[in-house]
Amino acid sequence: LPAPPFKAQTMARPSNNNSVLSNTVPSKVTPQDFVFIQELGHGSYSTVYKATMKNNPRQFYAIKVCSKTHIIKEKKIKYVTIEKNALTLLSQFKHPGIVNLHYTFHDQSNLYFVLDYIPNGEVFHFLYSQKNNGVLPDNICKKFVIQLIDSLDFLRRNKIVHRDLKPENLLLNDQGRVLITDFGAASALNEDRDQCESFVGTSDYVSPELLLHNKCSYPADLWALGCIIYQFKQGAPPFRGANEMGTFENIINLKYQHKKPINPDIQEIIDGLLVLDPTKRMCINDLKRCKWLRDIDWNNKQLIWRGIWE
Ligand code: ADE
Repeated sequence: LPAPPFKAQTMARPSNNNSVLSNTVPSKVTPQDFVFIQELGHGSYSTVYKATMKNNPRQFYAIKVCSKTHIIKEKKIKYVTIEKNALTLLSQFKHPGIVNLHYTFHDQSNLYFVLDYIPNGEVFHFLYSQKNNGVLPDNICKKFVIQLIDSLDFLRRNKIVHRDLKPENLLLNDQGRVLITDFGAASALNEDRDQCESFVGTSDYVSPELLLHNKCSYPADLWALGCIIYQFKQGAPPFRGANEMGTFENIINLKYQHKKPINPDIQEIIDGLLVLDPTKRMCINDLKRCKWLRDIDWNNKQLIWRGIWE
């Protein structure tokens, strides 16, 4: 079996705009209200900590701390603003597949996102755990895919494109449900603006339309889903080359193969999602009707959201 692939880094992108840092008023909550227990992970301009509140030590949170000087220096203000706005919008609905944001606050040095703590870590670690060794059984893969489709449907209805879906940004809760996290690369679309520009995402999962035309919309998240399903069954993302350029060449030439034997019903989905032309790529409704997922009752949310350990 292959060694776990190295973790992919979200690529840098340009930014301008200044509101999230200058528009804020001093908040009543402070970092001193929390006990920071351990680091859970870090991104390019943030670190996520497990924490509790001093007045309620039994309730855990994941607090994403973003350094203001770092955000300004790296010109990431626009992205932090979108992340905050997207998570605030989505969290109103308490969708079971999106990490819930309780609130944000800031002090002189940092911005803080107080999120639900999701106890079982990244799907990335689950996939490459000793038990799975890079390949998920079809029934677990199916459960994750159904939940991701329901979450992407929800994002689409709220006009949000995540733009950085990958197993590192999928978390598993105590029941084994999949939650999407890290909206730091997200984009909000609307009637006048149905595409977004600028180079974001992680090279292994980036869509061909972004590489070729610097444009992306909802189908970009479905391309990433195709890459993720391939990785669940093959142990590595489909287009990984010797370096980033090699990966990009593989993507725009649609150069990938199913190396290990695969259930043809799953292959149909992967091949339907890994389509260069975003207008010809499978959409959510196509996915819901394909052979592998035809038996799912998409209105039965309770069944869809039952975790793999329930
Ligand atoms: N790592 C990143 N975000 C997390 C969260 N919300 N819960 C647990 N681990 C995380």
